[in-house]
Amino acid sequence: MQPVRGTRDLIGADARRHHHVAETARHTAGLYGFEEWFTPIFEDTGVFARGLGDTSDVVSKEMYSFEDRGGDSITLRPEGTAGVCRALVSNGLTQTLPQKVFYAGPMFRYERPQKGRYRQFHQIGIEVLGAAEPLADAEVIACGWQILNRLGVADGVVLEINTLGDDASRDAYRAALVEHFSAQADKLSHDSKLRLEKNPQRILDSKDEGDRAIVATAPTIDAYLTPEAAAFFEAVQKYLTQFGVPFRRNPRIVRGLDYYSHTAFEFVTDRLGAQGTVMGGGRYNGLVEEMGGPATPSVGWAAGMERLSLLMEVVGNNPQPPRPVAVIPQGDAAETPALALIQKLRQAGITAEIGYRGNLKRRMERANRQNARAALFVDEAGAIQLKDLDSGEQRAVSEDAAVAALGG
Ligand code: HAM
Repeated sequence: MQPVRGTRDLIGADARRHHHVAETARHTAGLYGFEEWFTPIFEDTGVFARGLGDTSDVVSKEMYSFEDRGGDSITLRPEGTAGVCRALVSNGLTQTLPQKVFYAGPMFRYERPQKGRYRQFHQIGIEVLGAAEPLADAEVIACGWQILNRLGVADGVVLEINTLGDDASRDAYRAALVEHFSAQADKLSHDSKLRLEKNPQRILDSKDEGDRAIVATAPTIDAYLTPEAAAFFEAVQKYLTQFGVPFRRNPRIVRGLDYYSHTAFEFVTDRLGAQGTVMGGGRYNGLVEEMGGPATPSVGWAAGMERLSLLMEVVGNNPQPPRPVAVIPQGDAAETPALALIQKLRQAGITAEIGYRGNLKRRMERANRQNARAALFVDEAGAIQLKDLDSGEQRAVSEDAAVAALGG
């Protein structure tokens, strides 16, 4: 039996890096006042179909949707934001704003698997729900940057930011793009011809070589921003500078989901091959309304845990399991005092292992395989010898002295 295409088992070093990513992100987000929410892994299909936009690839091609036994259309969540907004409304929290939410967990997209891209992957993410101020955008980004730093992967990762403007900016820009692309429509790829009608901005994101040439000469949004949208973007950049977060403007960022306006950003790297976006997000002011709530301006991001984990591997940041203490009974009659000792160690917070069987030699081999830092030899009278396995020093100790010496 093999795992389903695009899914992976995380074991050993992979599991440790994955765990470290989640713990580091959870802790760092806590420093910024984010609290963790746990929302279901599946939702009514409408949560995503309505929320993410039916012209997005995620909704049109990538959702794992199925009818359950009761005949309801269910979708495995392809991302976390829509579910968090749904939860805000379902739980009657739209009057207690802002809510600052952290989440971590599996997401599902039917994409072509490759390095850094899977069908079941995991995201960490944060959302500030109910804050219209540009300071919220900058704080969210600063938190992401701090997480990358704490993971030791910030080197070689660049923050690219853009503005998608407000509705009026967008309409004006859209018209300009339609004009630009229509003039060369016959040279556009099939997909981009379709996008021209439904969502011309998405053409800016096209990976097609022929499209790229036409995109290169397309206008940027700057000339079409309303004064308010331009001022908002200025303020976000000012705050980012105050937070000490380096960034670069990339006017071609459009993001793959339809709910964004104003700020859009991505942390990108060239260290992971084709899948170089490690974290992406932006402002979304209409999503909570789509879920039946009041207008609730919001901003957030999500990051692919597998990509962060791959980056940790690239820079050689591989968390090690704690080195255990090996408790070694000398003869069958020593098992009873050895078990009493090992429970004392564990209750004192010391990682300790006891082999289930084997002679002294076998048990020592096992201790070395586990990279044990110390061995405690116990005889049938309960006398203990503590051996430091790095220095080789050995001495007789009491139970309490063993616990104290090993850091309990
Ligand atoms: P997204 O750009 O679709 O945004 O995904 C965010 C991140 O998830 C990507 O940058 C990437 O690191 C990771 N990711 C996406 N798809 C895959 C995949 N198939 N395999 C591995 N990693 C993947 C969102 O999901 C938005 N909900 C982000 C957001 C939150 N915007 C506002 N708040």
